[in-house]
Amino acid sequence: MRAATVLVTGANGEIGHGLLTRLAADGRSIVTLDIAPLEPQLAKLVRREFTGSITDLGLLERILSEFEIDLVFHLAALLSTRSEFTPMSAHQVNVEGTLHLLEFAHYEGLSHGRPVVFMYPSSIAAYGLPDIETKNRAKRVREDEWNTPTTMYGCNKLYCEHLGRYYTRHYKQLAAEPAGHVDFRCVRFPGLISALTTPSGGTSDYAPEMIHAAAKGEPYSCFVRKDTRIPFMVMPDAIDALLLLAAAPRARLTRTAYNLAAFSPTADEICEVVTRAFPRASMTWNTDEKRQRIVDSWPAEVDDSAARRDWGFSPRYDFDHAFNDYLIPTITERYKS
Ligand code: SER
Repeated sequence: MRAATVLVTGANGEIGHGLLTRLAADGRSIVTLDIAPLEPQLAKLVRREFTGSITDLGLLERILSEFEIDLVFHLAALLSTRSEFTPMSAHQVNVEGTLHLLEFAHYEGLSHGRPVVFMYPSSIAAYGLPDIETKNRAKRVREDEWNTPTTMYGCNKLYCEHLGRYYTRHYKQLAAEPAGHVDFRCVRFPGLISALTTPSGGTSDYAPEMIHAAAKGEPYSCFVRKDTRIPFMVMPDAIDALLLLAAAPRARLTRTAYNLAAFSPTADEICEVVTRAFPRASMTWNTDEKRQRIVDSWPAEVDDSAARRDWGFSPRYDFDHAFNDYLIPTITERYKS
């Protein structure tokens, strides 16, 4: 019998870094698929590494034939700023790639006779508030409000949430073969901040970029206004959330996509805490109007009560704790070495 294995796509990315370490520590057998070769310290943790695109059907067929995958973390995506520059590629990777992975999960589940849990990171980009006045008036936004994204990435994420729901509940409903081989579960992540890696191509990148630049002693020019407020979360809480939702009893889940929240600082509040920690930091403000419009369409705060109620989501880090006990000490240590 083949050993149950976890597939992580986009494993070389920011979430992948933290996730592989945790899965390996839990003794899971891991297979990865990423467009770039894994960094050596990650490669050591996995049973097999595939280098290639999630749109390569031949590659997915090879994985299907060689491994019994019972859990998928489908992390590969082009982020929001990058996707605005290359919308066709974004659609290809973010939507067609996800469709291929869902199809892959269906046939994995069919071949070993139980549903494959399919974890999908959606995003606050799935929301689209029409203007800053509406954003300022909106309370903590709930999952079914303002589902009118303004970016290609947001449209891709929202549609893939629906694809996941469809594969879980309705796929092949007219066909003779038994249904229900995919168990799709999704979180809408806020902006994520890791002490170990920096993102690329996102619009919430100003926060991690500001912190890492300050720690490295490099000047930083922030591309959003000081009063910009969106939700953020640190990477350890993001990884905990993915693992907790993956392990939750299916019967407890009342939604396909769950909001997650931890803290919602303004860009200026982040700058203050960073310059307190790294007094030699040099920050300037130079708004990129186009990227500003994107963050202005994202909610300032989201309501995560469904995640708390259904599967016990409870982030460990609030704003102070995130900076004082995780980001600042870990980043300082990282650049020292
Ligand atoms: N962090 C992502 C981005 O900025 C949003 O999910 O694109």
